[in-house]
Amino acid sequence: MGKDETLIAAIGAVSAIGMIGLDGWLPWDIPEELAYFERTVAGAALVVGRLTYESMDVVPVDTFVVSHHEDLVLRPGCVRVESVVDGLRAALRTGKPVFVIGGALVYAAAWPYCQRFYLTRIDGEFAGDTAFPSNIPLDQWAVVADTTRSLPELSTGRPVDCRFMVYSQAEPLPVPDRG
Ligand SMILES: NC(=O)c1ccc[n+]([C@@H]2O[C@H](COP(=O)([O-])OP(=O)(O)OC[C@H]3O[C@@H](n4cnc5c(N)ncnc54)[C@H](OP(=O)(O)O)[C@@H]3O)[C@@H](O)[C@H]2O)c1
Repeated sequence: MGKDETLIAAIGAVSAIGMIGLDGWLPWDIPEELAYFERTVAGAALVVGRLTYESMDVVPVDTFVVSHHEDLVLRPGCVRVESVVDGLRAALRTGKPVFVIGGALVYAAAWPYCQRFYLTRIDGEFAGDTAFPSNIPLDQWAVVADTTRSLPELSTGRPVDCRFMVYSQAEPLPVPDRG
């Protein structure tokens, strides 16, 4: 990556049966996994779908919320964008690293532009109502980090293996200029 190139990455977590969300939140309760997410995206500009945005207690400045609703009222420091590509373009203009934080359709549209995908694989069959998209060819990306930790899961009261993976895409597409 050249020194002028800003990192675009995605980050998420998925259960052993492919679920990422349940009832507007996560299908599991793993505080240390959430802390990993918060540490990893700290200081970045975020691109996020409207539902995920609404689920967040704390939203940092330079958060770009993808929504079709022109009259959407957002918290200070947040900006509505019409599309995922508009969000990526606006996030890049901040000069910060860019993280795409979901949900499903946002990952599905953003992955071609991502150099990295931080994906935690939760080794439990947590059911959900939102699935990780099937169109992301992570099996063709290089694995650049892969660490498993057993972490407390509070809804079951049992530890669960969390596999912190980082995938790297060799040739992400450049974010298109406004056409
Ligand atoms: N496990 C994880 O890592 C993870 C990560 C993120 C989210 N989640 C979970 O996943 C669930 C939410 O995800 P979700 O997939 O249902 O919703 P989402 O992507 O967060 O939000 C969907 C909304 O975003 C807007 N949107 C999405 N794609 C768009 C596009 N291409 N163009 C314009 N607008 C677009 C639309 O908003 P409008 O309706 O306003 O037009 C759409 O209704 C929650 O349960 C959340 O907790 C989990």
